[in-house]
Amino acid sequence: MTDTLRCAIVGTGAIAHAHAKAIAAYPHAQLVAVSDLSPESARAFAEEFGGPAVYDDLDSLLAAERPDVVHVCTPPVAHRDQSVAASAAGAHVIVEKPPAPSLEELDDMRAAAARAGRELVVVFQQRTGTAAAHVKRLLDDGAFGRPLIAQCQTLWYRNAAYFAVPWRGKWETEGGGPTLGHAIHQIDLLSFLLGEWESVQARLWRLDRETQTEDASTATVAFAGGAVASVVTSAVSPRETSSIRIDTQRATITVDHLYGHAHDNWRITPAPGFENLAAEWALPDVEEPSGHAQLIRDVYDSLRAGTPLPPVGTEPSRSFELVAAIYASAAEDGAPITPDRLASHPTHRRGFASPVTDRR
Ligand SMILES: NC(=O)c1ccc[n+]([C@@H]2O[C@H](COP(=O)([O-])OP(=O)(O)OC[C@H]3O[C@@H](n4cnc5c(N)ncnc54)[C@H](O)[C@@H]3O)[C@@H](O)[C@H]2O)c1
Repeated sequence: MTDTLRCAIVGTGAIAHAHAKAIAAYPHAQLVAVSDLSPESARAFAEEFGGPAVYDDLDSLLAAERPDVVHVCTPPVAHRDQSVAASAAGAHVIVEKPPAPSLEELDDMRAAAARAGRELVVVFQQRTGTAAAHVKRLLDDGAFGRPLIAQCQTLWYRNAAYFAVPWRGKWETEGGGPTLGHAIHQIDLLSFLLGEWESVQARLWRLDRETQTEDASTATVAFAGGAVASVVTSAVSPRETSSIRIDTQRATITVDHLYGHAHDNWRITPAPGFENLAAEWALPDVEEPSGHAQLIRDVYDSLRAGTPLPPVGTEPSRSFELVAAIYASAAEDGAPITPDRLASHPTHRRGFASPVTDRR
């Protein structure tokens, strides 16, 4: 058991605050160092979070501090090089979603962590919370019968001004549109609950916004367990929701929220004839919402104990592959993409630029 984890953060912007708060909340971790392209940002951040050392760049931080864990909170284009450097310096890496701008870059990150014998965790915090854990356990145990049909919606609203920021909505600088940037969270929760995927057919749409990427996408995902899901993503939806619905042989399970869920967001409705099981399926009395702190706490517990990562920290690539498959299918006019095809895809392991059908 490692006593206190010495932690570092690279990239001290918006989401780094959630990481620093999670580190502060964990009794056996200390934020020892931070680094950012902007020294002012790093210094102000360090002042807010207990005065960790500030470094001009990650390499000098790694050489001087030898941290146990590096939290990579920079934009995706920087994730590969920073994660690989942190792994090579012997640190575990906790990297923000999306893990990288391409599958090839994620491959490099995973290989570097494996070479170093260290963990690589991607922050998909929608998997956390007592409700998601409960529903996953019941699905895995077969308590709901077979999952049959599912819906996964990320219907958000981003106005023209949002897309007017120069790096947004462009393949070169954002890597993808809302399917990659926004929907990956709900797609991750869907695949956390339903497991391995078998095929994806998808289209990309430009419905209203001034973007090079999509502002909406529609996809059909077949899961290896038999379920079929409709995955709809939009940045043009005034009444916003992030929601998943899974109809199984014995129940309908729904979660409706926006950026995070607690028990109130979930509902389990028994099928006719299965009402007597509703009490067994009830969410546990002890409630914890989804969030960064929960994921980081559970991952830290396993790092300190030297035990395998908890489910909230495994499968760093599955939802990213689903997103990649949506883009790859769209590039072939909606043809089915399987995991095997994606594994050796001639273009979409390197990036996601794909044709978008313009309907403005
Ligand atoms: N899990 C979530 O819910 C969630 C929410 C928001 C953002 N994110 C992800 O977190 C990451 C960061 O997003 P953000 O909103 O915090 O962005 P941000 O722009 O607020 O912060 C990024 C910081 O990284 C710094 N930076 C950029 N390039 C760097 C480099 N090469 N080396 C060192 N520092 C560098 C910038 O100066 C900035 O301070 C992205 O991958 C984003 O998708 C995740």
